[in-house]
Amino acid sequence: MCGIVGYIGNKNGVPVVLEGLSRLEYRGYDSAGISYKEDHELNVLKKEGKLENLEAIVNEKKVTSSSVIGHTRWATHGEVNDTNAHPHGNDDFSVVHNGIIENAFELKKELQAEGEVFHSQTDSEVFLVLLTKNFKSGLSVKDAVLKTFKALEGNSSFVVLPKAENNIYAIKRSAPLVCGKSDDDQELLASSDPYALIGFVDNIFFPGEETLCFLDSSNNRIDFFDLDGNPSENYKSDKSRKDLKVETKEGFDHFMLKEIYEQPKLINEIAKIYKSEYSDQISIKAQDLDTINIIGCGTAWHAGLCLRNIYETELQTKVNVELASEFRYREPFVSSKDLGLFISQSGETADTIACTELCEKLNLKLASILNVGGSTLNRLCHENFMIHAGQEIGVASTKAFTMQVIVGHFLMRLLQGKHPTADFEKELEVLKNRIQNILDDVSSIKKIANEVHTCKGYIFTGRNKYFPIALEGALKLKEIAYVHAEGYAAGELKHGPIALIDEEMVSICLVGPELFEKTLSNIEEIKARKGKILIVGPKDNSKLEEISDWYIPLDFSDLNYFSPIYVNVVMQLLSYYIAREKGTDIDKPRNLAKSVTVE
Ligand code: F6R
Repeated sequence: MCGIVGYIGNKNGVPVVLEGLSRLEYRGYDSAGISYKEDHELNVLKKEGKLENLEAIVNEKKVTSSSVIGHTRWATHGEVNDTNAHPHGNDDFSVVHNGIIENAFELKKELQAEGEVFHSQTDSEVFLVLLTKNFKSGLSVKDAVLKTFKALEGNSSFVVLPKAENNIYAIKRSAPLVCGKSDDDQELLASSDPYALIGFVDNIFFPGEETLCFLDSSNNRIDFFDLDGNPSENYKSDKSRKDLKVETKEGFDHFMLKEIYEQPKLINEIAKIYKSEYSDQISIKAQDLDTINIIGCGTAWHAGLCLRNIYETELQTKVNVELASEFRYREPFVSSKDLGLFISQSGETADTIACTELCEKLNLKLASILNVGGSTLNRLCHENFMIHAGQEIGVASTKAFTMQVIVGHFLMRLLQGKHPTADFEKELEVLKNRIQNILDDVSSIKKIANEVHTCKGYIFTGRNKYFPIALEGALKLKEIAYVHAEGYAAGELKHGPIALIDEEMVSICLVGPELFEKTLSNIEEIKARKGKILIVGPKDNSKLEEISDWYIPLDFSDLNYFSPIYVNVVMQLLSYYIAREKGTDIDKPRNLAKSVTVE
């Protein structure tokens, strides 16, 4: 979602801010802008559409400045246009905002009644107008920022460039914000994502909730304050981020494809990491738990569904798998003997964070299966099981899903007080090799994509452990190919969706060795209604060959726990190649954001 980068220092910060914003493009956005100081005056340049539109006007004006803030906007309040793009500014301040001001409507009405004028339809401008009013009442910049922030409801982060001082102020509540200093302390930066700061800073700071970061360019330091303006220790610093690298496509046409191809390597490494990191037992034990509540959104929720059956069977514990956006508004029947297990790639998904906070209030034990260290979820949970997938740039999640499911299995053993990887190492080796075999020859998947990409719609079906993969396959396809796709439990077809079947509808049937006959009879039902059938199932099976229009044979031997991941890699490639046929923007699909920081 929205991306923020701010720079104050002794060099030209414009290229730094533009480079930071370009690194955040993967998060999804619809307009971009910068504000900079020139001859002590604030200027704003902003443009609807891609960052290159903004870069063109910045280059034309040959802008240089050592005090710059920038933003990529993903519209929430107000349509996509130049006026609603950030920064919002006036003579005294420029501000950028990530999140939602929930009481913006009421505040705006009050301010308008007092004669204040608004130029945009955004909630963010309310912050600017109120900040300016508070500053003009005689407060210092710092006190005006704090007073304004305290008047707002909802989760947001703001970065403020004031005319009156050569400093930047940044503040957050349950929205991502980091800041950092260069090696020589001469350059101070703030951002919504540490990825934007790689190579520009030596030390990254993660401010805690409701903490003000003061990027003090006169003294080359960053100070932290609480909402009463007192110095605060509520931040963490992380030197290790210095070694992060900026991702490139490494010869692949898209980040998504590169990330699909990274999976064998990541699978190879993860068991080694857990083997060495978890010699000790963890503090949470399955036998002490009433229920495990697995909570996430989208693909992360699907990873949770993959874990449910196996957790119930092997841990003999009740397991609920919950959509975060629903769980947060129920009155969940949970107890302090429950575990809240949050799955998230980014660790910043607003609904997942809200559920974590809810479970914290209800005294649950909190654990995460997580990719991004230093994220909000990372700080909220008592135990974090990192998936070590590296930066995922493609908006459609691929490698993170695979690693979430694998780490979920390691966690299952840890909850049993057992070694996390011992039972899985052999099978992971098989999985890695099988996935590599698929990746080594994608010609049949490409050919099928070419033949099915104009069909009317796609129904993905699977039973039992392949049902979550049917959901995930359909989600991936609709996300990146913009086609109608639905995932169903195979046994559910005749309860309604079978009405959709005709000659133009493709059914993508996921068949494992388990429940083979039952799944086959569901496919017969589709065949009887003249539906087109693509089967992904056990190899060398003449029945599957005969009944299908297309057949992707897989070798399921020696796979048990991880066969759904194997099938899912085929789904990832199929979506990718169908999207290529459609010519969509695969890495940055329309309307989507990588990290959904608003609910
Ligand atoms: C789908 C996708 C989304 C995310 C969801 C949760 O490809 O990427 O459905 O899985 O927005 O995001 P995280 O895992 O960051 O909490």
